[in-house]
Amino acid sequence: MHSTIEHQCDVLIIGSGAAGLSLALKIADNCQVIVLSKSELSEGSTKYAQGGIAAVFDENDSIEYHVSDTLLAGDGLCNEEAVRFTASQAKACMEWLIDFGMPFDQEKDGNGESKFHLTREGGHSHRRILHSADATGAAVQVTLIEAVKQHPNIHLFQRYNAIDLIKSKTQKDLLLGAYVWNRKKEKVEIIRSQFVTLATGGASKVYQYTSNPDVSSGDGIAMAWRAGCRVGNMEFNQFHPTCLYHPEARNFLISEALRGEGAKLCHPDGTPFMHKFDERSDLAPRDIVARAIDFEMKRLGADCMYLDISHKPSDFIVKHFPNIYRKCRALGIDITRDPIPVVPAAHYSCGGVVTDKFAKTDLQNLFAIGEVAYTGLHGANRMASNSLLECIVYAHSAAEYIKANLAKDYQQEPIEEWDESQVSDSDEEVIIQHNWHELRLFMWDYVGIVRTNKRLERAHHRINLLKQEVNEYYSNFKVSNNLLELRNLLTVAELIVECARERKESRGLHFNVDYPYQVDDPQPTIIGPLTK
Ligand code: FAD
Ligand code: SIN
Repeated sequence: MHSTIEHQCDVLIIGSGAAGLSLALKIADNCQVIVLSKSELSEGSTKYAQGGIAAVFDENDSIEYHVSDTLLAGDGLCNEEAVRFTASQAKACMEWLIDFGMPFDQEKDGNGESKFHLTREGGHSHRRILHSADATGAAVQVTLIEAVKQHPNIHLFQRYNAIDLIKSKTQKDLLLGAYVWNRKKEKVEIIRSQFVTLATGGASKVYQYTSNPDVSSGDGIAMAWRAGCRVGNMEFNQFHPTCLYHPEARNFLISEALRGEGAKLCHPDGTPFMHKFDERSDLAPRDIVARAIDFEMKRLGADCMYLDISHKPSDFIVKHFPNIYRKCRALGIDITRDPIPVVPAAHYSCGGVVTDKFAKTDLQNLFAIGEVAYTGLHGANRMASNSLLECIVYAHSAAEYIKANLAKDYQQEPIEEWDESQVSDSDEEVIIQHNWHELRLFMWDYVGIVRTNKRLERAHHRINLLKQEVNEYYSNFKVSNNLLELRNLLTVAELIVECARERKESRGLHFNVDYPYQVDDPQPTIIGPLTK
């Protein structure tokens, strides 16, 4: 008798951030959708996004400028077609979001008419960032959640971890669904579906210091890799230059929009320094600013650098950055008077599962959208506020493909039950915890902002040792969230190191002291089953 619970839907979406929920809303009139989230529905990077979403709304701006800024930030490695596609879809996608009630900030123009307030961030030549004060992501997440909750065809499964994709035994590139772990009941279940979409976000939790929430453990990248998909550009993990440096603040970001509105990075004695590193000074792209901060911290032996916006009027600061103001104030820092202590932290995975314009992966019914995907948009360095945009643009194009290809009858091949007969409860949780810390620490030390061949080799060696231990653990004990995430993070770490070892130059976010130059004909690093 089949004892594993089996659910069925037309489209399984793994992830409930901007990417997953946008896709759900775009297809739900046509089919039955299950959306999975590992924690609460709202928990993911989307909720914490601050600065905003890039789209051309200003009459002095143009899609061409958005394209050229993105290409420049991407340091020679963007796929121009993906960049053009994304920039040209941006306005329509934002209007779609606004129709659901997204409260972007507005202001009055010279004629007293309302228009959207546009802010600036690093790399953008024009004011182009739509935002809801300094908590844009929370507003996106609330807007989308309100809408999905009202749709009868969207079924929300909270506190469910996708463990692995289930492949057909008869058709090599076809999926039957996924094994998922019901965290409340501590049971593995099956979800069978015609299409599966990974919208699981990024993998920055592989680093010790990160701006990301706990769920960002690269599960989608690891699952796709195990199922045989190619991944690309994993060496390009973005470090945000300015996370708050305070013992009581974990992961709190100080938005780049502060620099967009005039904040300056300074030494502990108040001396500004970014003009020494780039002619765009504090508004240079992130890779340059993060490396400059790292360099100055090491040169001066300082624990952090400082970001100062106190020269702006207090009411302007409080109006534009109410959350940052409140958070810092609660920690004893008055940003209208005091410089803010900041350090870089892992922030965004520019690489991911290789996809095309419709978010299709190498498997015929598997899609990947949002931070989990590698579309070619970001190249060697993502420009600020292009990420939420990418989530929504590719959710829309995936939806078009899915709607056009929904079938009434699809593969009903039997799925093997999850076998727990050989495993027991773990009595050594401490081993998993220890491996977690070890992995994240050596990734920070050896595969961080500045890399060397020797450090990459060390990381490679450590990963192989940890893999053996974790694989053994995985075979012998029942699943737990920590074990599932550790297994996935190890895969992601391996892919980052593999890609970093392949790149024999320094470009964008990847800086290797042993190859400080750039090659003439740079190519993305694409690895897959054939190159393994
Ligand atoms: P997420 O929003 O991260 O959602 C991932 C979802 O997948 C979650 O629901 C999670 O529970 C689920 N999940 C993961 N693994 C599993 C699994 N195994 N099983 C089931 N569910 C799973 N970008 C911008 O464009 N503008 C900004 O201003 C901006 N600011 C940012 C500020 C911060 C602090 C951070 C961290 C990021 C910021 N970014 C910004 C980046 C941007 O927020 C993210 O890239 C984007 O939100 C990713 O959305 P997503 O839908 O792909 O994933
Ligand atoms: C920020 O507000 O600085 C984050 C913007 C982004 O990551 O795109």
